[in-house]
Amino acid sequence: MKDSENSKVTPWEVSGRVDYDKIMTKFGTEPIDQNIMNSLSRLTGGDIHFMLRRGIFFTHRDLGWLLDQIKKGENFYLYTGRGPSDHTHIGHLVPWVFTKWLQDKFHAKLIFQLTDDEKFLFNENLDTEKTHSLALDNALDIVALGFDPKLTEIMIDTDRSGLLYPQAIKIAKKITFSTIKATFGFDQSANIGMIFYTSIQSVPAMIESVRAGKNIPCLIPYGIDQDPHFRIARDVLPRLGFLKPASIMSIFIPPLSGVEGKMSSSDPNSAIFVTDSASVVKRKINKYAFSGGRTSVEEHRKLGGNPDIDVSYQWLRIMFEPDDAKLKKIRDDYISGSLLSGEMKALLIERVNAFLKRHQELRERAKDTLHEFLAEH
Ligand code: TRP
Repeated sequence: MKDSENSKVTPWEVSGRVDYDKIMTKFGTEPIDQNIMNSLSRLTGGDIHFMLRRGIFFTHRDLGWLLDQIKKGENFYLYTGRGPSDHTHIGHLVPWVFTKWLQDKFHAKLIFQLTDDEKFLFNENLDTEKTHSLALDNALDIVALGFDPKLTEIMIDTDRSGLLYPQAIKIAKKITFSTIKATFGFDQSANIGMIFYTSIQSVPAMIESVRAGKNIPCLIPYGIDQDPHFRIARDVLPRLGFLKPASIMSIFIPPLSGVEGKMSSSDPNSAIFVTDSASVVKRKINKYAFSGGRTSVEEHRKLGGNPDIDVSYQWLRIMFEPDDAKLKKIRDDYISGSLLSGEMKALLIERVNAFLKRHQELRERAKDTLHEFLAEH
C-alpha cells in the first residue's frame, strides 16, 4: 500500500492512500469536533446524520460561525455541484445525500451547480453538446434523491445562465494568473478557459446575496478535493463585499479496486453507475471489489478479515448501512472470521441493488418534474 507521501488530491486527480489528518493541516481546515456536533444537534432536535457520526464528513470551515448565525435566526443557503463528465456514480451521491439531509433539517434553499463548461474545458474528448446532455442526465439523479423543488435550483452553467457571467467577471478580476498557477499547478499549455474557470465555481457562493441585495450566509458541502476552488472564493468574496462561504467536507468513496484514490468514471470497473443493472452491480462487486478477507475460508475463519481495507465494508459504512448497531455487528463478525468475504459482498450487492431499483424508478419519473428545478437564473 502506498503511503500518504505518494497520495495526491487536486480537483482533477485523487490518487494514493489519502491521509485526511494531513490534508486538514495542509489545507488549513478545522476538524468537526464535539462542540460543532453539539451545536448542530441542538439545532436538529438531536439528530446527527450517520455520515457525521462516522467521520465521512470530517472537516469544515466556519461551520461554528454559521451554526451561531442559524441559532440567532439568520437565514442561510446551501450550495453544491457536480461536473457532468459521465453518468452519475455512487461516489457522487455521498455528498448529495448529506446535502439533502441538511436541506430537510434546516429547510434551506439549495443551489446545485452543474458545471458542463468545466468538463468541456478540462476534457479533450468531450464536446459542448455532450457535456450539456450529461448535465441534463445528471440532473435527473439530483431530482430523484428527493430535493424539495420549491427550495432547489439546478443551475446548468451553459444553459440560461444569464446571471453567471456578469458575476464571474467580478470575481475573475480579483484573481491573478499567478494565484491560479500556484493553486492549481497549471502549466503553460493550459487553455485560458481552465484558468478562468474557478471564478465560475465561485459565483453560486454569493449569488443569493446578489439577488437579495444583502449578505446571506452560504454553506457548501463538498468532497475535500474541491477545496482549492473555495480557498480562492473565501479570499476574493470579502473583497467584493460578500461573506466568506462556510464549508463542510467529506472523504472520498473508494473505487471498487481498493481503498486508495476515489471512485472515478474513467475506470468503469472501479465505479458503479446509477444506471447499472442489478446483474452488472452483482458482477462488478463480486469480481472487482477489493476484499480484506483471507485467501482461504479456513484461514479466514481462524484469523478473521480486515474491514478497514475491505471495499464492500467501506461502502456499507460510508453510504449503505445507516444503522450503527448493524454496521458494528458486520464489522465484528468480519474481524472474528464468522462473516466471510463473499457474504460481505452479498450484503453490499443486496443494499446497492435495493437502492438502485428505487433510484432508477425515481429517475424516470424525474423527467416529468425536472423543469421545476431548472429555474431561469
Ligand atoms: N468542480 C466540481 C466537479 O468537478 C463541480 C462543482 C461545482 C462543485 N460547484 C461545486 C462541487 C460546489 C462541490 C461544490 O465535480
